[in-house]
Amino acid sequence: MARPPRLLLLPLLLALAHGLPGALVAQEVRQSPHCTIAPAGGSVNITCSTSGDLHGIYLKQLGPQPQDIIYYEDRVVPTTDKRFRGRIDFSGSQDNLTITMHRLQPSDTGTYTCQAITEVNIYGSGTLVLVTEEQSQGLHRCSDALSTGSALPAPPTASALPA
Ligand SMILES: *[C@@H]1O[C@H](CO)[C@@H](O)[C@H](O)[C@H]1NC(C)=O
Ligand SMILES: *[C@@H]1O[C@H](CO)[C@@H](O)[C@H](O)[C@H]1NC(C)=O
Repeated sequence: MARPPRLLLLPLLLALAHGLPGALVAQEVRQSPHCTIAPAGGSVNITCSTSGDLHGIYLKQLGPQPQDIIYYEDRVVPTTDKRFRGRIDFSGSQDNLTITMHRLQPSDTGTYTCQAITEVNIYGSGTLVLVTEEQSQGLHRCSDALSTGSALPAPPTASALPA
């Protein structure tokens, strides 16, 4: 079903003007969950799911400090940042990848985003990972954390996204 080209062009130009990476490309990265909470020493899963051509997947931490965590490509040895070396497992394949982060530390708290490397780079919606102190009481659900604002790192800003 062909869409009128003029309608496609305007938002594309707007996206370029705003530097939004891949905002209007038909492809997308579905990332889940939006938020997850684990005690220190625990594990969380982040899933990145992409359709169409794909070279590989980065998981990037946006905040507090932007950092590449992993790069995964089918049939290639994955690259893992030394902070997470030995603490990451992969299941699935690059177009439906589950990344398991183990032995979490409170300092791992942050927002993690899938970046799909395609013709252009497209980003997932981000996962807020909250790691609580082992002894901490109370904070057991993302909704609690979000409503009290406790344990939250500085929110990532759009400018933290690499162009
Ligand atoms: C993460 O995913 C793996 C593989 O699908 C599963 O075995 C494991 O139970 C999950 N872990 C958590 C913490 O959800
Ligand atoms: C991705 O993999 C999970 C299990 O690892 C499966 O439940 C899910 O249906 C898959 N999604 C797609 C889009 O293939």
